[in-house]
Amino acid sequence: MPHTVKNILNKQPLTRHDLVTLLSSDGEYSKLLFDRAAEVKRKHAGNKVYYRGLIEYSNLCGKNCLYCGIRSGNKKARRYELTEEEVLEAARYAWEARYGSVVIQAGERSGKDHVHRIERLIKQIKQLSNGGLGITLSLGEQSEDTYHRWFEAGAHRYLLRIEVSNPGLYYKYHPDNKTHDYQARLHALLLLRKIGYQVGSGVMIGLPFQTVQDLADDLLFFRDHDIDMVGMGPYIEHEETPMIKHKSQLLPKKERLCLTLKMVAALRILMKDINIAATTAMQAIDPQGREKSIRAGANIIMPNLTPSRYREDYMLYEDKPCTDEDAEECQRCLEARIHMAGGEIGYGEWGDSKHYHKRKR
Ligand code: 5AD
Ligand code: SF4
Ligand code: FES
Repeated sequence: MPHTVKNILNKQPLTRHDLVTLLSSDGEYSKLLFDRAAEVKRKHAGNKVYYRGLIEYSNLCGKNCLYCGIRSGNKKARRYELTEEEVLEAARYAWEARYGSVVIQAGERSGKDHVHRIERLIKQIKQLSNGGLGITLSLGEQSEDTYHRWFEAGAHRYLLRIEVSNPGLYYKYHPDNKTHDYQARLHALLLLRKIGYQVGSGVMIGLPFQTVQDLADDLLFFRDHDIDMVGMGPYIEHEETPMIKHKSQLLPKKERLCLTLKMVAALRILMKDINIAATTAMQAIDPQGREKSIRAGANIIMPNLTPSRYREDYMLYEDKPCTDEDAEECQRCLEARIHMAGGEIGYGEWGDSKHYHKRKR
């Protein structure tokens, strides 16, 4: 194993088998992986960590993913939608605190009103910041026309996680094929790219039935689809979801986090110049999950800007952090954490994916 890991870290391109070996490494061998990822990050992505202020706009969702706490089938979830003024206030906070960008995230909805409301919000955020704030959207699958409208209004990045790249597993977690279609999701990623967005995707790690081979394929999926930004986090159970019945099969949480960190490190080595997020789900498992992720190769953090009184309702999974904090508390907390992890915050910068600019050249 030591020789194999060392050899793999010195070769290119990495095969599926190599990735499986890296993801299965532990102890001093996984340390070799983390050290190499840190080196690659320094050289190709730099030492800066960029902020994306997260605005959880609404927990209304038309989908019914079996793992998610705000799925349409969870009748116990208390539904909300921020007012226009609440969104703009959060964006103003981000602008004044010199965050480079904001992310507007919500469950997936269609409908003209929704599309127009988002379009108006994008324009207003652009206006209040004289075009200065970058805008990322995370609003699920939409029509080409909708993606186009939002792009024209001023959004320039879009996150759409594939969730799992293996179609067989995808349908296991999304069995209702009236609302869930793997090919449609893939097509949406292609549309976003065609329109000109910086395209983000991602997966969950440690799902029931998922193997290390599946995870290696997830990494190759990002490479083959030339993704600009990736957000990956551990799967975390939620009592009010159907997937809770597989609870006994799950890896212990600590191991899920460890596997996620290895995914981040392996991805940094595989795709050197992309943006990789240290996701909130990592912090739900370990108070220092995001700092560990930055050390393992991540360079993006999403401080929560959702008004405090709604935070408990955007409960995708258990133990979601920062639900008792407000924007200022999260900012102070994060700054300290990032410095502890040896990172420097890229205040006032968009921090675009270098990969995106290279592929556009
Ligand atoms: N555990 C971890 N991540 C989850 N998400 C949804 N439910 C869970 C869960 N139980 C993630 C999905 C989605 C993102 C917004 O949150 O990957 O894309
Ligand atoms: Fe809706 Fe996203 Fe949750 Fe699926 S994961 S139910 S699309 S919010
Ligand atoms: Fe929200 Fe630490 S980042 S409390």
